[in-house]
Formats: sequence, C-alpha cells, structure tokens
Amino acid sequence: MHEIIAKARLSPNVTRIEARAPRIAEIRQPGQFVIVHRAEEAERIPLTIADGDPARGTISLVIQAVGKSTRELVALEPGQFIQSIAGPLGRPTDLISSGKALCVGGGVGTAVIHPIAQGLRRAGASVVSIIGGRAREWVIFEEELRRLGEVIVCTDDGSYGRKGFVTDAARDCLAVGGIDVVYAVGPVPMMRAVAALTRPLKVRTIVSLNPVMVDGTGMCGGCRVGVGEEVKFACVDGPEFDGHAVDFELLMDRLSTYRAQEQEANTCSESGCRIGLG
Ligand code: NAD
Ligand code: FES
Repeated sequence: MHEIIAKARLSPNVTRIEARAPRIAEIRQPGQFVIVHRAEEAERIPLTIADGDPARGTISLVIQAVGKSTRELVALEPGQFIQSIAGPLGRPTDLISSGKALCVGGGVGTAVIHPIAQGLRRAGASVVSIIGGRAREWVIFEEELRRLGEVIVCTDDGSYGRKGFVTDAARDCLAVGGIDVVYAVGPVPMMRAVAALTRPLKVRTIVSLNPVMVDGTGMCGGCRVGVGEEVKFACVDGPEFDGHAVDFELLMDRLSTYRAQEQEANTCSESGCRIGLG
C-alpha cells in the first residue's frame, strides 16, 4: 500500500500527487513510468514519474483527469492509499552529457519533460525548455523548469507568454541553431509537428509515446507502435523513440480505438453502472 502524502491541482484538469514509494524513488531514472492500481476493482493506469525524493521515499505522479479511472485516482486525499504501484518500468531516457538540448512540452506532457530536463542538467548538458498550454492556467511545471535553464512559455490564446503553439517557438529556436537534440512530449499532433520541423534539419528528436497500456510488461501487445520498419512495445522498448521513425498515424488510429468504450465508462460512472475503462 502506498500512502498519498500530498496533492496539488496544477491546472483545471491536471493534479499532482506525491505518494510513498521508497524503492522506486531510489532507483527511478528519467523517462521511466509506473503502473498504478488504485484498488482491487480499479483499472491499471500508466503514469510517468514526474519527480522523486529518495530522502523522503516519495514519487510525484501527474494525472490528467479525463476518464472514470483517472477521476477516481485524483479523488484520493492525503492519508489515503493506492493499492499498488509497479515500477519503475520502461527504458530510461537517452541523455546527452554536453551540448544543448531543446525540451518541448505540450500541456500535460510538460510533466514528462521535467524529469528529462533534470537528467540532462545532472548529466552536464544545457537545457532550453519550450512549454505550452491552451491558456495561462493550463501551463504547468514552469517554475521547476526555470530552475534548470531558460524557459519559453507559449499559450494558444496569448493569455501568457508568447501567443501560439510550442512548435512556433521551437521553429524559431531551431532556426538560430546550436541545438544538439530535441525531446518532445505532448499531444501526438504536437510531437509529429516537432519531428517534421527537425527532420530536414537532421536534429535528433526523441518523443515519448503514450499508447494504451495494460500489463506494462510486453506480454499483452496493447501498447504496440510502429517505429521504422519495426513493431515495438512502448512499455518495454520505450516509451521514448526516435521521433523521425515513429508512425504517428498508426498511433493516433490506435489511440482512438477505445474512444466509444471510454465514453460509455464516463457516462456509466456518472449514472452508477460499472465498466472499467478510462
Ligand atoms: P493540449 O491539447 O491542451 O495541447 C497542449 C499544447 O500542445 C498546446 O498548447 C500547443 O502548444 C501544443 N499543441 C497542441 N496541438 C498541437 C498541434 N497540432 N501542433 C503543434 N502544437 C500543438 O494538450 P493537453 O490536453 O494537455 O494534453 C492532452 C494530450 O496529451 C492527450 O492526447 C494525451 O494523451 C497526451 N499526452 C501525451 C503524453 C506522452 O507521453 N506523449 C503524456 C501525457 C499526455
Ligand atoms: Fe502490454 Fe505493453 S502494455 S505489451
């Protein structure tokens, strides 16, 4: 059992919880994730480890409340418990140890960029972060990233920082030059757009994929993605891959496969019946 130590609302539908998980806090590396199983009857949810504190024995998880299961998870309060947290899972981020990295975070994907930027700084690279949200209240992890390097904030509506998508700011940064590698995490169309910007410039680009996951151990095949000519499993081969080789169309197609069931689970959770998706 993992006690919730703290909880904070980061944006209108994004919540950060700090949970006790001493072993994971000690050995986790940037890019890795956990699978959270709130209670016996609950669905398993894959979540990136956004931060960790080995001294306190805690990890931070950032949850976008979009469906029944994620809403139930963010409803937990400090002092309550999560039944199990499995991990750390997945391959750690391939970090550079010198030169300059551009970290691009779209919306809740910025929570995944944070441990990558931390790892880059620890390894010796310099970091410029471009982060964005629909409007000011959707921008997350700005303060934490400012401690690690320059931060450019973008909002779709111009209510804070630069008006426009993160890809607009990334285009300008790349035009100046001097970027050795780009890490991009956010909605699939955003990561596809970043990869399209960097491909002609031949700047290595790493993206973090979030397909549907079930077991997180490479057994169920639920998280398969196309990378180059190969089929990979995001849970054991990723979740980070070469953005220039990822088949983003296939990923979008697979992400929409369970939309009807998710909608049904959402409707049912409001009216009392039980379906375990979302
Ligand atoms: P959002 O739709 O609010 O977009 C966040 C920002 O991404 C925007 O402000 C914009 O700067 C950029 N963006 C969005 N669409 C773009 C496009 N077509 N071209 C260029 N830039 C674009 O995002 P949100 O609601 O915070 O995130 C939701 C999505 O992120 C979900 O689809 C979720 O599955 C995905 N997600 C992905 C990961 C991952 O590991 N890749 C992690 C968490 C969430
Ligand atoms: Fe089952 Fe990856 S989640 S194979």
